[in-house]
Amino acid sequence: MTSIQASQGSPYARILSIASAVPSRVVDNAEMCTYIDSSDEWIQQRTGIVERRWVGEGEDAESLSLDCGGRAIERAGLTPEDIDAVIVSTISQFVQTPGLAPIVAAKLGTAGAAAFDISAACAGFSYGLAQAEALVRSGAAHHVLVIGVETLSKVTDLEDRSTAFLFADGAGAAVVGPSDTNGIGPVVWGSDGNQADAIFMTQSLQEVAATGTPSWLHMHGQPVFRWATTAIADAARRALAAAGLTPDQLDVFAPHQANNRITDAMLRHLKLPDTVKVARTVKYYGNNSAASIPMALDAMLQSGEASSGDTALIIGFGAGLVYAGQVIRLP
Ligand code: UT7
Repeated sequence: MTSIQASQGSPYARILSIASAVPSRVVDNAEMCTYIDSSDEWIQQRTGIVERRWVGEGEDAESLSLDCGGRAIERAGLTPEDIDAVIVSTISQFVQTPGLAPIVAAKLGTAGAAAFDISAACAGFSYGLAQAEALVRSGAAHHVLVIGVETLSKVTDLEDRSTAFLFADGAGAAVVGPSDTNGIGPVVWGSDGNQADAIFMTQSLQEVAATGTPSWLHMHGQPVFRWATTAIADAARRALAAAGLTPDQLDVFAPHQANNRITDAMLRHLKLPDTVKVARTVKYYGNNSAASIPMALDAMLQSGEASSGDTALIIGFGAGLVYAGQVIRLP
């Protein structure tokens, strides 16, 4: 029988670089309260958000992706031609096709890299990272660019006081490549489609065309909050255990930046020591879904709060409902 050759990958993969793109428009709670009946005090107390970023003039999901994607490639010491797969995690590509990834791959100057979008909402970065790690280890790709990007301001109903203060824009990217030592732990992931109606778009594209009214991102906050502080806190614990780490061996905890109260509940569940540095970028960036984890990691690395070589537990969770988390070594 003719044998079919198998691809040969690297024994391990690691993150070579991280970069982020912070949109220019600052929307503080005072401005938010001109749209909804709320207060700075309520928003801060319930979420920890002081201000959020929205895209400004000339900015969109594509420009943010090119910005952070290009810098991530540079920081990895690579050129765009070295990238052979581009994964864009987003729920902000507002056409069903083409995907954003092929456009980004072309405009970055890759040599026709494989490129696809994934729709895993706020878990999107961890989903993308799990794919990148598997591609590098299988040999299907050598260097993978993973981008989490959102412009949720475009689908935020400014008349909905239960969500308008949360959603935000931004982008973060990581380059994943081969390594002699392991830099990405086993992914712990899953879904609960029985809760598909917890976070959803209010209309399909066909309904938008038929009604002439916009489709908004809507969320039933309380069930999502309960799920995040129970099932997802436990998934985070399992991701740490799957990587073979004990809480005292962890340097950084960067959960999806949805709400500081969720982060606090996870910290209690995980019993992490005070020495662990905890991402709190929701304060200035709001909840920007797939972008929140790489943006938080980049902010912590750039400020010196986190360091190259640190171990970090990341976990994303959101619409689907879907979740994914893993331990990584920071570049
Ligand atoms: O990113 C994907 C994953 N998403 C998440 O993880 C988000 C999870 N959910 C949450 O973070 C929280 O549910 C929210 C921050 C969205 C809401 O916080 P909450 O503590 O669950 O508020 P609530 O919906 O239970 O509302 C509490 C009270 C209500 O008043 P009463 O009934 O207690 O008198 C609301 O009417 O707060 C009221 N309220 C507001 N008050 C001022 C609701 N929205 C507002 C508002 N300003 N914007």
